[in-house]
Amino acid sequence: MDAVPDHDFSRRLTAVAAEAESALERLLGDDALPNEVLRPPRLMEAMRYTVLGGGKRLRPFLVLESAALFGVTGEGPLLAGCALECLHCYSLVHDDLPSMDNDDLRRGRPTLHKAYDEATAILAGDALLTLAFDILAREDVHPDAKVRIALVRELGRAGGIGGMVGGQMLDLAAEGRFEAKRALSESEIITLQAMKTGALLRFACRAGGILGQADASASAAIDRYGAIVGQAFQIADDLLDVESDTATLGKAAGKDAAAGKGTLVTALGIEGAHAKLDELVAEAETVLKPFGAKADTLRAAARFIANRRT
Ligand code: IPE
Ligand code: IPE
Ligand code: MG
Ligand code: MG
Ligand code: MG
Repeated sequence: MDAVPDHDFSRRLTAVAAEAESALERLLGDDALPNEVLRPPRLMEAMRYTVLGGGKRLRPFLVLESAALFGVTGEGPLLAGCALECLHCYSLVHDDLPSMDNDDLRRGRPTLHKAYDEATAILAGDALLTLAFDILAREDVHPDAKVRIALVRELGRAGGIGGMVGGQMLDLAAEGRFEAKRALSESEIITLQAMKTGALLRFACRAGGILGQADASASAAIDRYGAIVGQAFQIADDLLDVESDTATLGKAAGKDAAAGKGTLVTALGIEGAHAKLDELVAEAETVLKPFGAKADTLRAAARFIANRRT
């Protein structure tokens, strides 16, 4: 019997998403920056279009829940989660650009470069990326500057060369954009996905440990959990690309095969990818064992991430 039934989990995710939404609304509102800062209206509108009114808010959710595991709640984790969500939204805007995945639909609406224009999309993405670090450096995130610096450093790494950006580079290279296309091995795909998607989800979980100043063994456990759900998340994304449809996903389905992307679905087959997800959920249960019942929501989150329909 699951300690947190899936319907309770969905309710909790919905509640956190609403909390994140209103915090993001504040962070991108008229009073969000000091008075002397000029805010080009088109840039602000484009940033708000991208960030507000959509998205599962899974990354803020994981920050909040992993921080709660270490007894930290309130404004600090919420701000850290919003910083990560801003960086995630930037990654989606740039991922959708014509020179990247060339997508017209995101979160059920025209992508930013379609709704506005390409230059605005690039700049709004840049501004969301830098806003993420502005938010993380604020005192309300944590009173101890060392904790804030650790968050800034970890997010920089998760979002950068060895993380999301590096993974995006490998992803495009694997499509044969820069050199002759070559099939990736399973372990190459795992590495690529750990970077392009896993790193930000892993950061979400690590952030909880950092905010809670967790000891070495608890930090290692939450980090491992983050890596597992990060991997599960992209396998689910690749399965949805094959098994779902554009209306349900709010983004174009069936694009990976068309682009000849190497995914674990191509490497393992649909059945094999589902089996891998089951394995990862079981692994998540194992690494959370030391936390006992306190980690029940994170257990439910691993199941949700593996079985998500959008
Ligand atoms: C989509 O992420 C991009 C990937 C990393 C595969 P999400 O599925 O979390 O997107 P939103 O935030 O809910 O729209
Ligand atoms: C990209 O993965 C993940 C990011 C770093 C944004 P995908 O290209 O598969 O993400 P979707 O399917 O467009 O959301
Ligand atoms: Mg992509
Ligand atoms: Mg894409
Ligand atoms: Mg995808």
